Amino acid sequence: MKGPQPRDAIKSLLSYRPSFGKVEQGSVIRLSANEGALGTSPKVLAHLKADQGTPSRYPEVQDRRLCEAIASRYTLEPGQILTANGSDELLSLIAMAYLEAGDEAIHTQYAFLVIPQVIQIAGATPVVAQDKDFICDVDAILAAVTARTKVVFLVNPNNPTSTIIPMDEVQRLHAGLRRDILLVLDWAYAEYQPDSFSDEAARMVEAHDNIIMTRTFSKLHGLAAFRLGWAYCAPDILTTLGSIRGPFSVNQIAADAGIIAVGDVEFQEKSLRHSQKWMDEMCRFFTSAGLSVVPSATNFILIGFDGHNGPTASETARYLASKNILFREMAPYGLDQYLRMSIGTDEEMQIVKQTLSDFFAGAQKSGTLK
Ligand SMILES: Cc1ncc(COP(=O)(O)O)c(C=O)c1O
Repeated sequence: MKGPQPRDAIKSLLSYRPSFGKVEQGSVIRLSANEGALGTSPKVLAHLKADQGTPSRYPEVQDRRLCEAIASRYTLEPGQILTANGSDELLSLIAMAYLEAGDEAIHTQYAFLVIPQVIQIAGATPVVAQDKDFICDVDAILAAVTARTKVVFLVNPNNPTSTIIPMDEVQRLHAGLRRDILLVLDWAYAEYQPDSFSDEAARMVEAHDNIIMTRTFSKLHGLAAFRLGWAYCAPDILTTLGSIRGPFSVNQIAADAGIIAVGDVEFQEKSLRHSQKWMDEMCRFFTSAGLSVVPSATNFILIGFDGHNGPTASETARYLASKNILFREMAPYGLDQYLRMSIGTDEEMQIVKQTLSDFFAGAQKSGTLK
């Protein structure tokens, strides 16, 4: 007799276990995880040094001060915010609450890999809507809707493509969906857009009972290690998700840090300016090296090596890793000819440019060009 067996959907799961890469020794330049370039707000770091809180006490189930701080920064209704252990947890909760065997959930061709995973864990069927030139295609999503569709996941801007569709397209998508279909707006990179972008999404959430926007503190706000995300949604959805979320999934350190981080607008603006400056410069650098770049609405660049008269994507990633620089390989997305690089600090970007220039020049000299 066999031991306990998981459900079939779990057995066949293509598990998303992010691999940010490893280096043998020394300090690493990690540009493989889309974290904020400038680290964490100095105000958060000062707080962490000064006040360790009361570790022996359970945190609040839902930290009201945190919801109020988020609501005040982004002009939202605090009672419609649900915080969680990263937005990954929210995506899982949504799938767990709204999907079951026999249901379909639509996601776009290169959607963040956690999304097909949570659909499959829930026992439902992921349905893929093809992109157009790496951009989500609203017509393809609407064409994929069937009587079984329960949820549509839209990651915008998307990871790993870095592309965005404008809010009028998001509105057209919502207008084309039945009212019983839940539209999930994964807005993990919304902070890299002007506030008006997420404001419009928030107004959509407030006007309808079938939209959820998920957000994260892991990118611009620089708190990836503390695992803090939040959803903005109608009260009924909030009650449903809140009832299956672990009661203490947001720890006190994360909640306190989140309150400070979301209020530090000066740090957010500085981080945005930094990202924009290097985005332009690195795109010019990659293009002049004969690589292609996908126009980015985020803090990372998808770099294309197809047609590159030189080392391949994986040869380049290996070389960079040998120099303690980590780019993300894109094979799990079926994009073997691409690498993804997050914007890092000034110094890191200079080192990347120098290291790649040396590598490509060396390949040219040694005649290893294709
Ligand atoms: C599109 C997208 N959604 C969600 C997440 C998860 O973010 P969190 O760290 O809040 O779980 C990521 C992280 O890379 C992401 O790229």
